Amino acid sequence: MSNYTATAVACANIAFIKYWGDRDSSLRLPANGSISMNLEGLTARTRVMFNELYTQDTLKLNGELARGPALSRVIQFLDLVRALAGKNLHAAVESQNNFPTQAGIASSAAAFAALSLAASHAIGLNLSEQELSRLARRGSGSACRSIPTGFVEWQPGSSDQDSFAQSIAPADYWDLVDCIAITQTSPKKTGSSEGHSLAASSPLQSARLIDASHRLDICRKAILERDFEALGSICELDSNLMHAVMMTSSPALFYLEPTSLEIMKAVPTWRQSGLPVFYTVDAGPNVHLLTQEDAASQVIEKLNQFPSITSVFRAKTGGAARLTANQLNDEH
Ligand code: PMV
Repeated sequence: MSNYTATAVACANIAFIKYWGDRDSSLRLPANGSISMNLEGLTARTRVMFNELYTQDTLKLNGELARGPALSRVIQFLDLVRALAGKNLHAAVESQNNFPTQAGIASSAAAFAALSLAASHAIGLNLSEQELSRLARRGSGSACRSIPTGFVEWQPGSSDQDSFAQSIAPADYWDLVDCIAITQTSPKKTGSSEGHSLAASSPLQSARLIDASHRLDICRKAILERDFEALGSICELDSNLMHAVMMTSSPALFYLEPTSLEIMKAVPTWRQSGLPVFYTVDAGPNVHLLTQEDAASQVIEKLNQFPSITSVFRAKTGGAARLTANQLNDEH
């Protein structure tokens, strides 16, 4: 093997039908299937260099050397890549987000999708999209959905072999736009890995799971038929169900902040006045408002009227994870 270095770019994604809770937390097999949209322009770019002379793995995140839990998680992940390749090489990993990490947009999906592609390629593996998605899943569940293009469904599967994500429709299938209202920039107190482990303690989780395949069917159909209203109502319901589970787990998790709720309450009134928009919220206070291309500026204008919103990101549907030139500092 002559080339030990590879660089990859992957998008963040927003879940329409949420993944919350694991059936197997070490393999990150989810309690239910999920559907998401990749977010164009909100990307992680990751370079991996394996070298026979390295005696340990190192990680640079946005230019700073990382230690502690962030480094351990990457080492654990590289162990999987080394085992797959049958090679015992250490790596220098450098990763950059083109959006502020502290902005509260889930960065682990983009980061582990990019790391899967870069690390597997650098070590000489030539994985299929399914194999890459399975590998990314081991780093962060939702990362498996950032491997394929556009609108993506994660089949929960029943083992490591059959739990991976596949594209339902390409990025240019539907001109949806995600307007992300940033309401808080401090890191969240309870990370999603810990959150998943609490899901089963909520008496509402079983009800959420029983109906999940029905919600997945409605969501998939709404995407394929480009039915904005049907997509909006199933997404809002699914997001509220997940937050109900979070709030009723032991200990209770409250990711929504007063501003999140203010926006969530305003959205139906905007809809009544003719604006095509719906909300969904992941494990944090920032609210994602989905709309259509021609209404996006109006949605952003409305969001800018909330004094507690510090910024609004705008993202169209993004493509698949891809290999790129080995420079970190050029445009994503
Ligand atoms: O991939 P994780 O472990 O960060 O979990 C993601 C959980 C949610 O963002 C709340 C939902 C989802 O499906 O992305």
